[in-house]
Amino acid sequence: MTFGNFTGANTILGAIGTGGLEQSFAVPTRCVTCDAEVRTRGTYCPPCAERESKSLRELYLERASATLPEPYPKATVHPALRAVAADWKRAHGNLVLLGASGTGKTTAMILLAWRILHLAQTRDIGVDDVRWAAGIRFMTAAELGKARIEHALGKSPPPLVRTAERATLLLLDNLGAEKRDDTDIAEVLNERYAACGKLPTVVSTELTRAKLEQRYGVATTRRMMTGRVVDLHSEGAP
Ligand SMILES: Nc1ncnc2c1ncn2[C@@H]1O[C@H](COP(=O)(O)OP(=O)(O)OP(=O)(O)O)[C@@H](O)[C@H]1O
Ligand SMILES: [Mg+2]
Ligand SMILES: [Zn+2]
Repeated sequence: MTFGNFTGANTILGAIGTGGLEQSFAVPTRCVTCDAEVRTRGTYCPPCAERESKSLRELYLERASATLPEPYPKATVHPALRAVAADWKRAHGNLVLLGASGTGKTTAMILLAWRILHLAQTRDIGVDDVRWAAGIRFMTAAELGKARIEHALGKSPPPLVRTAERATLLLLDNLGAEKRDDTDIAEVLNERYAACGKLPTVVSTELTRAKLEQRYGVATTRRMMTGRVVDLHSEGAP
Protein backbone atom coordinates (compact mmCIF):
# COMPACT_ATOMS: atom_id res chain seq x y z
CA MET A 1 0.00 0.00 0.00
CA THR A 2 1.96 2.98 -1.22
CA PHE A 3 -0.37 5.84 -0.39
CA GLY A 4 0.22 5.39 3.34
CA ASN A 5 3.56 7.14 2.70
CA PHE A 6 2.10 10.49 1.83
CA THR A 7 2.25 13.19 4.46
CA GLY A 8 -1.45 13.91 4.13
CA ALA A 9 -2.42 10.33 4.86
CA ASN A 10 0.03 10.10 7.76
CA THR A 11 -1.26 13.27 9.38
CA ILE A 12 -4.80 12.03 9.17
CA LEU A 13 -3.79 8.63 10.50
CA GLY A 14 -2.00 10.35 13.37
CA ALA A 15 -5.02 12.49 14.19
CA ILE A 16 -7.62 9.73 14.08
CA GLY A 17 -5.47 6.86 15.25
CA THR A 18 -6.08 3.32 14.14
CA GLY A 19 -6.77 0.79 16.85
CA GLY A 20 -4.99 -2.52 16.61
CA LEU A 21 -8.34 -4.32 16.62
CA GLU A 22 -9.70 -2.44 13.64
CA GLN A 23 -6.45 -3.13 11.82
CA SER A 24 -6.53 -6.87 12.37
CA PHE A 25 -10.22 -7.34 11.63
CA ALA A 26 -10.07 -4.82 8.75
CA VAL A 27 -13.59 -3.53 9.42
CA PRO A 28 -14.82 -1.84 6.24
CA THR A 29 -14.96 1.93 6.64
CA ARG A 30 -15.10 5.09 4.52
CA CYS A 31 -12.33 6.85 2.59
CA VAL A 32 -11.02 10.07 4.16
CA THR A 33 -12.36 12.29 1.40
CA CYS A 34 -15.23 10.38 -0.22
CA ASP A 35 -17.81 7.71 0.48
CA ALA A 36 -15.93 4.82 -1.07
CA GLU A 37 -15.39 1.82 1.16
CA VAL A 38 -11.81 1.20 2.33
CA ARG A 39 -10.39 -1.49 4.60
CA THR A 40 -8.48 0.74 7.02
CA ARG A 41 -9.86 3.76 8.79
CA GLY A 42 -8.07 7.02 7.93
CA THR A 43 -6.87 5.97 4.49
CA TYR A 44 -7.78 7.05 0.97
CA CYS A 45 -9.51 4.97 -1.63
CA PRO A 46 -7.25 4.42 -4.68
CA PRO A 47 -8.66 7.28 -6.84
CA CYS A 48 -8.45 9.75 -3.93
CA ALA A 49 -4.92 8.60 -3.08
CA GLU A 50 -3.96 9.21 -6.69
CA ARG A 51 -5.44 12.73 -6.61
CA GLU A 52 -3.76 13.56 -3.30
CA SER A 53 -0.35 12.45 -4.54
CA LYS A 54 -0.77 14.53 -7.69
CA SER A 55 -1.59 17.71 -5.81
CA LEU A 56 1.30 17.10 -3.41
CA ARG A 57 3.60 16.68 -6.39
CA GLU A 58 2.35 19.88 -7.99
CA LEU A 59 2.77 21.82 -4.77
CA TYR A 60 6.37 20.71 -4.30
CA LEU A 61 7.39 21.24 -7.88
CA GLU A 62 5.75 24.63 -8.18
CA ARG A 63 7.69 25.81 -5.16
CA ALA A 64 10.94 24.63 -6.74
CA SER A 65 10.29 26.12 -10.18
CA ALA A 66 9.56 29.49 -8.59
CA THR A 67 13.17 29.65 -7.37
CA LEU A 68 14.76 28.70 -10.70
CA PRO A 69 15.69 31.33 -13.29
CA GLU A 70 14.43 30.92 -16.85
CA PRO A 71 17.15 30.09 -19.37
CA TYR A 72 17.86 32.74 -22.00
CA PRO A 73 16.12 31.13 -25.00
CA LYS A 74 18.74 32.03 -27.60
CA ALA A 75 21.77 31.23 -25.48
CA THR A 76 24.63 29.51 -27.25
CA VAL A 77 25.75 26.58 -25.16
CA HIS A 78 28.93 24.60 -25.80
CA PRO A 79 28.02 21.06 -26.98
CA ALA A 80 29.90 19.45 -24.08
CA LEU A 81 27.80 21.50 -21.63
CA ARG A 82 24.60 20.70 -23.50
CA ALA A 83 25.42 17.01 -23.34
CA VAL A 84 26.05 16.99 -19.61
CA ALA A 85 22.88 19.02 -18.96
CA ALA A 86 20.87 16.45 -20.89
CA ASP A 87 22.44 13.45 -19.19
CA TRP A 88 23.30 14.27 -15.57
CA LYS A 89 21.64 12.08 -12.95
CA ARG A 90 21.55 12.19 -9.19
CA ALA A 91 23.79 9.13 -9.06
CA HIS A 92 26.55 10.96 -10.97
CA GLY A 93 27.20 13.16 -7.93
CA ASN A 94 29.00 16.48 -8.16
CA LEU A 95 29.40 18.26 -11.47
CA VAL A 96 31.90 21.03 -12.19
CA LEU A 97 31.72 23.19 -15.31
CA LEU A 98 34.97 25.00 -16.07
CA GLY A 99 34.99 27.47 -18.92
CA ALA A 100 35.40 31.01 -20.13
CA SER A 101 32.63 33.60 -19.94
CA GLY A 102 29.90 33.10 -22.53
CA THR A 103 30.42 29.36 -23.09
CA GLY A 104 26.96 28.62 -21.69
CA LYS A 105 27.72 27.34 -18.18
CA THR A 106 24.86 29.15 -16.45
CA THR A 107 22.40 28.17 -19.16
CA ALA A 108 23.55 24.54 -18.97
CA MET A 109 23.02 24.28 -15.21
CA ILE A 110 19.59 25.91 -15.43
CA LEU A 111 18.59 23.55 -18.24
CA LEU A 112 19.79 20.62 -16.14
CA ALA A 113 17.57 21.67 -13.25
CA TRP A 114 14.52 22.29 -15.44
CA ARG A 115 15.01 18.87 -17.00
CA ILE A 116 14.90 17.20 -13.59
CA LEU A 117 11.79 19.15 -12.59
CA HIS A 118 10.14 18.28 -15.86
CA LEU A 119 10.88 14.57 -15.36
CA ALA A 120 9.51 14.73 -11.84
CA GLN A 121 6.36 16.35 -13.19
CA THR A 122 5.71 13.95 -16.00
CA ARG A 123 6.94 10.61 -14.70
CA ASP A 124 5.26 8.48 -12.15
CA ILE A 125 7.97 8.64 -9.51
CA GLY A 126 7.75 8.15 -5.78
CA VAL A 127 7.12 11.00 -3.39
CA ASP A 128 10.75 10.88 -2.16
CA ASP A 129 11.99 11.57 -5.68
CA VAL A 130 9.48 14.39 -6.03
CA ARG A 131 10.76 15.90 -2.78
CA TRP A 132 14.30 15.51 -4.04
CA ALA A 133 13.56 17.31 -7.30
CA ALA A 134 11.70 20.02 -5.41
CA GLY A 135 14.76 20.66 -3.22
CA ILE A 136 16.93 21.90 -6.10
CA ARG A 137 18.19 25.44 -5.56
CA PHE A 138 20.13 27.84 -7.80
CA MET A 139 22.29 30.71 -6.54
CA THR A 140 25.39 32.59 -7.55
CA ALA A 141 28.55 32.45 -5.46
CA ALA A 142 28.38 36.24 -5.21
CA GLU A 143 24.90 36.06 -3.64
CA LEU A 144 26.03 33.40 -1.22
CA GLY A 145 29.13 35.38 -0.28
CA LYS A 146 27.12 38.53 0.25
CA ALA A 147 24.57 36.74 2.41
CA ARG A 148 27.23 35.66 4.83
CA ILE A 149 28.99 39.01 5.11
CA GLU A 150 25.74 40.92 5.59
CA HIS A 151 24.68 38.67 8.42
CA ALA A 152 25.82 39.82 11.85
CA LEU A 153 28.47 37.69 13.52
CA GLY A 154 27.35 35.40 16.30
CA LYS A 155 23.88 34.88 14.85
CA SER A 156 22.70 31.62 13.35
CA PRO A 157 23.79 31.12 9.72
CA PRO A 158 22.09 33.40 7.18
CA PRO A 159 19.03 31.82 5.50
CA LEU A 160 20.75 31.65 2.10
CA VAL A 161 23.69 29.75 3.61
CA ARG A 162 21.28 27.28 5.20
CA THR A 163 19.51 26.92 1.86
CA ALA A 164 22.89 26.28 0.21
CA GLU A 165 23.77 23.64 2.78
CA ARG A 166 20.42 21.87 2.65
CA ALA A 167 19.34 21.99 -1.00
CA THR A 168 19.02 18.45 -2.33
CA LEU A 169 20.92 19.67 -5.39
CA LEU A 170 22.77 22.98 -5.22
CA LEU A 171 23.55 24.83 -8.43
CA LEU A 172 26.31 27.24 -7.51
CA ASP A 173 26.98 29.62 -10.38
CA ASN A 174 30.12 31.59 -11.05
CA LEU A 175 32.31 30.31 -8.25
CA GLY A 176 35.25 32.68 -7.85
CA ALA A 177 33.24 35.80 -8.72
CA GLU A 178 32.46 36.43 -5.06
CA LYS A 179 34.69 38.86 -3.18
CA ARG A 180 37.69 37.16 -1.70
CA ASP A 181 37.01 38.15 1.88
CA ASP A 182 33.25 37.80 1.57
CA THR A 183 32.63 34.29 2.63
CA ASP A 184 33.69 30.80 3.28
CA ILE A 185 32.07 29.05 0.38
CA ALA A 186 34.50 26.18 0.83
CA GLU A 187 32.70 25.47 4.10
CA VAL A 188 29.37 25.05 2.33
CA LEU A 189 30.97 22.81 -0.30
CA ASN A 190 32.68 20.69 2.35
CA GLU A 191 29.49 20.45 4.38
CA ARG A 192 27.66 19.08 1.36
CA TYR A 193 30.50 16.72 0.53
CA ALA A 194 30.34 15.35 4.08
CA ALA A 195 26.83 14.04 3.34
CA CYS A 196 28.51 11.22 1.36
CA GLY A 197 27.00 11.81 -2.06
CA LYS A 198 23.51 12.56 -0.77
CA LEU A 199 23.89 16.29 -1.45
CA PRO A 200 25.45 16.77 -4.87
CA THR A 201 26.56 20.21 -6.05
CA VAL A 202 26.82 21.58 -9.57
CA VAL A 203 29.45 24.31 -9.76
CA SER A 204 30.23 26.63 -12.64
CA THR A 205 33.36 28.75 -12.74
CA GLU A 206 35.56 30.74 -15.06
CA LEU A 207 38.59 29.69 -13.01
CA THR A 208 40.92 26.92 -14.11
CA ARG A 209 41.48 23.92 -11.87
CA ALA A 210 44.85 25.38 -10.78
CA LYS A 211 43.20 28.67 -9.81
CA LEU A 212 40.48 26.82 -7.89
CA GLU A 213 43.18 24.98 -5.94
CA GLN A 214 44.94 28.24 -5.18
CA ARG A 215 41.80 29.89 -3.95
CA TYR A 216 39.83 27.15 -2.21
CA GLY A 217 42.62 24.71 -1.46
CA VAL A 218 43.58 21.38 -3.02
CA ALA A 219 41.31 19.29 -0.77
CA THR A 220 38.13 21.30 -1.38
CA THR A 221 38.82 21.36 -5.12
CA ARG A 222 39.30 17.59 -5.18
CA ARG A 223 36.04 17.05 -3.25
CA MET A 224 34.19 19.38 -5.59
CA MET A 225 35.46 17.30 -8.50
CA THR A 226 34.60 13.83 -7.20
CA GLY A 227 31.86 13.47 -9.82
CA ARG A 228 31.89 14.73 -13.36
CA VAL A 229 34.02 17.58 -14.69
CA VAL A 230 33.55 19.42 -17.97
CA ASP A 231 36.75 21.40 -18.54
CA LEU A 232 36.40 23.74 -21.52
CA HIS A 233 39.74 25.38 -20.71
CA SER A 234 41.58 22.25 -21.75
CA GLU A 235 39.31 21.67 -24.79
CA GLY A 236 39.66 25.15 -26.23
CA ALA A 237 36.86 27.62 -26.95
CA PRO A 238 33.71 26.55 -28.85
N1 LIG B 1 20.26 37.62 -21.24
C1 LIG B 1 20.99 37.38 -22.35
N2 LIG B 1 21.00 38.27 -23.35
C2 LIG B 1 21.72 38.03 -24.47
N3 LIG B 1 22.48 36.94 -24.64
C3 LIG B 1 22.53 36.04 -23.67
C4 LIG B 1 21.79 36.20 -22.46
N4 LIG B 1 22.04 35.13 -21.66
C5 LIG B 1 22.87 34.36 -22.35
N5 LIG B 1 23.18 34.87 -23.55
C6 LIG B 1 24.06 34.28 -24.57
O1 LIG B 1 24.21 32.90 -24.32
C7 LIG B 1 25.57 32.54 -24.17
C8 LIG B 1 25.72 31.65 -22.96
O2 LIG B 1 25.40 32.38 -21.79
P1 LIG B 1 25.66 31.87 -20.34
O3 LIG B 1 25.29 32.97 -19.43
O4 LIG B 1 25.00 30.57 -20.14
O5 LIG B 1 27.25 31.64 -20.34
P2 LIG B 1 28.24 31.51 -19.11
O6 LIG B 1 29.24 30.49 -19.51
O7 LIG B 1 27.46 31.28 -17.90
O8 LIG B 1 28.94 32.90 -19.06
P3 LIG B 1 29.49 33.72 -17.78
O9 LIG B 1 30.73 33.04 -17.33
O10 LIG B 1 29.74 35.09 -18.32
O11 LIG B 1 28.42 33.71 -16.76
C9 LIG B 1 26.35 33.83 -24.04
O12 LIG B 1 27.48 33.78 -24.86
C10 LIG B 1 25.42 34.92 -24.52
O13 LIG B 1 25.76 35.28 -25.83
MG1 LIG C 1 27.25 32.42 -16.17
ZN1 LIG D 1 -12.05 8.40 -1.88
